Amino acid sequence: MTPTTPFARVRPATVLDAGPLAEAHRTAWWETYGEVVPAEAHPEPAESARGWWEAALSDPDGPTTWVAVRDGAVVGFSRAVAPGAGNVRPLELQLLYVLAAEQGRRTGTHLLQMAVGDAPCALWVAAHDLRAQGFFRHHGFGLDGTREQRWGGLTVARMLR
Ligand SMILES: CC(C)(COP(=O)(O)OP(=O)(O)OC[C@H]1O[C@@H](n2cnc3c(N)ncnc32)[C@H](O)[C@@H]1OP(=O)(O)O)[C@@H](O)C(=O)NCCC(=O)NCCS
Repeated sequence: MTPTTPFARVRPATVLDAGPLAEAHRTAWWETYGEVVPAEAHPEPAESARGWWEAALSDPDGPTTWVAVRDGAVVGFSRAVAPGAGNVRPLELQLLYVLAAEQGRRTGTHLLQMAVGDAPCALWVAAHDLRAQGFFRHHGFGLDGTREQRWGGLTVARMLR
């Protein structure tokens, strides 16, 4: 794909984005984990359902979801939550996905910046995904040695900044 503009536009999502966000989540999820998590090992993630996004985006107390749009299509999104007292960082990057065809165009950087700025933050990343870990290291995060097992035996590693 040849981009028509240098950067995707990043803006806050509204409830009208629920359908495209669910679709983009499903695509990004399978692009990221499809080869390591067998399809039969777990159900479709909650965030791949339009209803999950409709509820999340219509909650007036909920965090902002940031959506990246290129040529009218959702090509990435991010969302950080405040996990509350007692957590290792005041912010957790809950979601950051850029569709494969859009990667390497700074969309991930822009989505990360909008969701967490330069704040101290925690996130979980697939332990095998050295590319994503390199991206986050580039942005000041480091592995803290904590690992967890998630769906279908996927190992995730925690990174902190
Ligand atoms: C990780 C991810 C968000 C990165 O998004 P992206 O749009 O491809 O990244 P960008 O184009 O913004 O990368 C920009 C910068 O990071 C650097 N970078 C990217 N990957 C890197 C790597 N592996 N090692 C070092 N630096 C890296 C680039 O050199 C670039 O630096 P610059 O801004 O100084 O020029 C994206 O690849 C993705 O969605 N992956 C799958 C899902 C995932 O793993 N999400 C994270 C867990 S929630």
